[in-house]
Amino acid sequence: MANGRDFTRVGGGVLLAALLLALVSCKGDGKADQDAASTQAGANASPWPEVKWPLAEDAALEQRIDALLATLTMEEKVGQVVQGDIASITPDDVRKYRLGSILAGGNSDPGGRYDAAPAEWLALADAFYEASMDTSQGGKAIPVMFGIDAVHGQSNIVGATLFPHNIGLGATRNPDLLRRIGEITALETRVTGMEWAFAPTVAVPQDDRWGRSYEGYSESPEVVASFAGAMVEGLQGRPGTPEFLDGRRVAASVKHFLGDGGTTNGKDQGDTRIGEAELVRIHAAGYPPAIAAGAQTVMASFNSVNGVKMHGNKPLLADALKGRMNFGGFVVGDWNGHGQVEGCTNTDCPATINAGLDMAMASDSWKGFYESTLAAVKAGTIPQERLDDAVRRILRVKFRLGLFEAGKPSQRAVGGKFALLGAQEHRAVARQAVRESLVLLKNQGGLLPLQPRQRILVAGDGAHDVGKQAGGWTLNWQGTGTRRIDFPNADSIFEGIARQAKAAGGEAALAIDGDYRQKPDVAIVVFGEDPYAEFQGDLPNLLYKPGNDTDLELIRRLKADGIPVVAVFLSGRPLWVNRELNAADAFVAAWLPGSEGGGIADVLLRKPDGGVQHDFTGKLSFSWPRTATQYANNVGQEGYDPLFAFGFGLTYADNGDLAPLPEESGVTGEQGASGVFYARGDLAPGMALRLEGDQGQSLTVTSLPGALEGDLLRVTGVDHLAQEDARRFAWSGAGPASVVLQSHSPIDLQRETNGDVMLVLTLRPERIPTEEVSLGASCGDGCRASLPLRDALAGLPADQWTTLGVPLKCLATAGADTGKLDSVLQLRTAGELQLSVSRVALGALNEAQHMLPCTR
Ligand code: BGC
Ligand code: BGC
Repeated sequence: MANGRDFTRVGGGVLLAALLLALVSCKGDGKADQDAASTQAGANASPWPEVKWPLAEDAALEQRIDALLATLTMEEKVGQVVQGDIASITPDDVRKYRLGSILAGGNSDPGGRYDAAPAEWLALADAFYEASMDTSQGGKAIPVMFGIDAVHGQSNIVGATLFPHNIGLGATRNPDLLRRIGEITALETRVTGMEWAFAPTVAVPQDDRWGRSYEGYSESPEVVASFAGAMVEGLQGRPGTPEFLDGRRVAASVKHFLGDGGTTNGKDQGDTRIGEAELVRIHAAGYPPAIAAGAQTVMASFNSVNGVKMHGNKPLLADALKGRMNFGGFVVGDWNGHGQVEGCTNTDCPATINAGLDMAMASDSWKGFYESTLAAVKAGTIPQERLDDAVRRILRVKFRLGLFEAGKPSQRAVGGKFALLGAQEHRAVARQAVRESLVLLKNQGGLLPLQPRQRILVAGDGAHDVGKQAGGWTLNWQGTGTRRIDFPNADSIFEGIARQAKAAGGEAALAIDGDYRQKPDVAIVVFGEDPYAEFQGDLPNLLYKPGNDTDLELIRRLKADGIPVVAVFLSGRPLWVNRELNAADAFVAAWLPGSEGGGIADVLLRKPDGGVQHDFTGKLSFSWPRTATQYANNVGQEGYDPLFAFGFGLTYADNGDLAPLPEESGVTGEQGASGVFYARGDLAPGMALRLEGDQGQSLTVTSLPGALEGDLLRVTGVDHLAQEDARRFAWSGAGPASVVLQSHSPIDLQRETNGDVMLVLTLRPERIPTEEVSLGASCGDGCRASLPLRDALAGLPADQWTTLGVPLKCLATAGADTGKLDSVLQLRTAGELQLSVSRVALGALNEAQHMLPCTR
């Protein structure tokens, strides 16, 4: 029996070995061995390793910095420590405020278009660079640094090579491959003008419900440590060689420091409660090798450690990271992360600089942050030495990158060489990574590998959807709403299979729903999670798509027709899929492979002559759960009892039979998907639908139809996508009345508000009154927000289903405390309004066809 087999191979000494290796590998430094030795536990009482920073003191560099620093005004110094987002800052702002850096957040693009052309990105980078060098209005010329989330390739840009997300790379166990991926990512990032990648993520996810699990290489600190140095070297080049931070490399940002993968219940941006020794052993594992490789920046994390927000955590930022571990780069903040520090707001937070943050990611709050920081330095709240140290650290990185001499981005080594985006050679490396990342969990009767010369049906909604196979952080933040044409340099999984089948004289047919006319010899069903990023991917348990068995039914239907089925599962984490595992003959965990769907066919299909093309080599870097409630069961822990252990992965030489698995998920009661308040005719657990009048009339809707006294407001069931999945609300116009979506206990949507999350209503306007209609939310006694809705409703296509987004930020500006909402939606009017609603849920910016303007 495969379940329960223990494939754990990594022993306790491996972390130390990986560490030593990373340290010793920084060439040109004879003292490395000696310093590495002092990292051994027991050599010192502190659990923090001492790390050797690989760059020797450079007197000439320090002189240049001294000279420049001496000429800077206090305003210019403060400017250096502030980073604004391109959606909220212009080149003119940089010219005026002399900011040190800009970033492109996941949803920020030139012209606000997620599919902006690479040339537009480069032009934007040029414009910001030129503004930073323009002294016509005074100020010193200090080149701006442009950072972007090049987290699986230069993944924001159309045409870039998209590598598997880190969870897939973890399964390769191949640090050399990671180094190569880092090089290519750096190169493609430079093509479009940026010199800074917000990567690698060295989180060690301990609870698979966390929406960022896929950004981590592994639940095992040893695996993360074995990759961190290689990835940093790939991105930046090796210290002491001419390629280090040259025009083909970028500065790395190791993130998120610290404990991002350890939060309670896997809640994104939550609290990591842990003793110091475990904090160091598990969550800090990636940092010593990354620092030893010369990582130029580290990003502070949103989360708290033992109740203290990392952006205000001096013992960890200043003492452990910069002190004990000798990190010689600068610490950048995360997206308004400073605003979550106690006593801070997004626009005011001296405490973060004092705690050791060198540059704040004040995305949309940069101006206020700049002003308050300047005032704090003047008032002495931020010591002058602290500011100078932060600026020095930033300038060092800029000098090391050679930015003062580099000229504008388009004139640098590979700036504008757009043919490098998705170059064949790059895609070949990504395809290799896909092959090596695949983990075979079941191969009943040795169904795989498949003969290519046969009739192959390729089904499932992941079969021909590059956006889905690429996951979050792809062209936009959530990775949703993309189209096939947005990926000119990519193969869907189907395309890869079809090409090889055809070349061998076989035939692959695409049928998402699995329908066929001529019975296929075999079916490959590609299915899995839809893209998500950050907290939007947090789950209450490890159920795969609760309440939606479409994929399972598809596999079962094909099997019932006597067709052998290979399941290819796309996901950002292991999920409980025992039913799908039972139903299919073979089961492949393919993670989020990226642009090279062809890598799947390379392993699944035989050569035309019948031989194996590529065997499976991928091994689980995350333990596979036995039940949907086994979300924090990690290798090395007491009571470790997964279905497939860390390190598991069949090859073609193995017997791949799997005895039927139990089909009880372990989840009891109703558990809705997080962030969905009403859908498919159902309220999420804990939600109630109420009708209310101003005279104290009220009705909790438990059956349909329902009406307030005197028919002031009526609710009936109507059809949208399924029978009676929607609710029609009709106001009589005889007096004011409201529809209220109420929560039994307050809902905390603060972090969603901080990001650009919206409340998305799927609705159909049917009758719009002339009287005002308002949309609001409430948050306890006397706490509420109300936004005008009438004109927006009138502007929607009448009698048609559409989606309307209400930015949570607008509700907050209008007075709602989104940290404690007791109703997420209130629709109110005294007029004769009629509309139907089929879904109320949180969504990303690009997930609504229309948007409510943010006015009061
Ligand atoms: C994420 C970071 C990312 C940054 C910039 C944050 O919300 O946590 O990982 O680098 O945004 O997009
Ligand atoms: C940005 C992301 C960022 C997030 C922060 C989004 O709007 O596009 O880059 O990570 O907000 O929560």
